[in-house]
Amino acid sequence: MFGFGQLIDILKKDPKKIVFTEGTDPRILEASSRLLAGTFLKPILIGNVDEVKKAAEEAGFNINGATIIDPLNYDKMDEMVEMFCELRKSKGVTPEQARETLKAANYFGTMLVKMGEADSLLGGATYSTADTVRPALQLIKTKPGNKIVSSCFIMVRPGATGENEVLAMADCAINIKPSEDDLVEIASETADCAKIFGVDPKIAFLSYSTFGSGKGEDVDKMRNACEKAKAARPDLAIDGELQFDAAVSPRVARTKCPNSEVAGYANTFIFPDINAGNIGYKIAQRLGNFEAYGPILLGLNAPVNDLSRGCNAGEVYSMAIITAALA
Ligand SMILES: CC(C)(COP(=O)(O)OP(=O)(O)OC[C@H]1O[C@@H](n2cnc3c(N)ncnc32)[C@H](O)[C@@H]1OP(=O)(O)O)[C@@H](O)C(=O)NCCC(=O)NCCS
Repeated sequence: MFGFGQLIDILKKDPKKIVFTEGTDPRILEASSRLLAGTFLKPILIGNVDEVKKAAEEAGFNINGATIIDPLNYDKMDEMVEMFCELRKSKGVTPEQARETLKAANYFGTMLVKMGEADSLLGGATYSTADTVRPALQLIKTKPGNKIVSSCFIMVRPGATGENEVLAMADCAINIKPSEDDLVEIASETADCAKIFGVDPKIAFLSYSTFGSGKGEDVDKMRNACEKAKAARPDLAIDGELQFDAAVSPRVARTKCPNSEVAGYANTFIFPDINAGNIGYKIAQRLGNFEAYGPILLGLNAPVNDLSRGCNAGEVYSMAIITAALA
């Protein structure tokens, strides 16, 4: 089952470069100094070189070995502008507009990943979710075969047997009102992501109804999405629509849906919309004592992740390891 040791072992074999868009933030600097000490990740800090160094010195963190890149003084800016214009040509972006946009660390850092100068990106210590995610949607784009970018949270708490209990929940952060087809993609991507964290996914499409016990458009949406997901991914254990109690309690499942191989033992939860998902993962985090790792963005061509603006240095450190390991 999931532990950070396994991800660190993966990274030790092939240390990845990770861009931090907020290079002067003390939380980023603390996490970077810990990552550098571990020698399994190569931080790239965006910002004015003197300002980043001064911020690290004042906060007392050793960032020797980190690469610092200033968007206002970047030797490959012409190449970056050209690529940016090509990527945004459908929007008619001019070189002047590109040069202006690329002064901002979120767009500049995302382009470093796009150009192959870095493997992954972690932002959002001060940028909003939308400002961290939008450049990735526009420049890194969805990987072949995917229509949307979505997200999941990996939820971890110590289990009774000493092993960690690990769950996946989606989409709690990106798609506000996913369609049936969006939900199929969200389930498929979340299951694949859950496997990286040692979960053998048993996927429940959640609703206020179990196998037709309730009626309504939202019930139909989850049932239809579930059937489409079963057809799209016959390799996965999927069932729905299920209420949360039927999904996780073997006793309730025996009464409400005795023939389901998922009900009672679900560990990967697909919520009908962002309201349910965001509230749901926070209930598990605040009342269920789960650590919440995410949102982990799914469906992009390269890993980019978003921090909560209220994050601490420990969370930056954990998310950096997860983000880089996904590369
Ligand atoms: C993801 C999100 C930030 C995008 O917002 P936005 O930038 O205002 O969205 P826009 O519709 O202007 O789209 C911007 C670009 O991203 C693309 N895009 C938007 N959502 C996408 C998705 N889910 N997958 C792939 N591409 C997407 C659009 O096609 C557009 O591309 P273009 O510029 O090449 O035309 C938005 O869906 C959102 O706000 N989600 C909720 C975030 C949130 O509050 N989460 C809770 C806290 S964690």
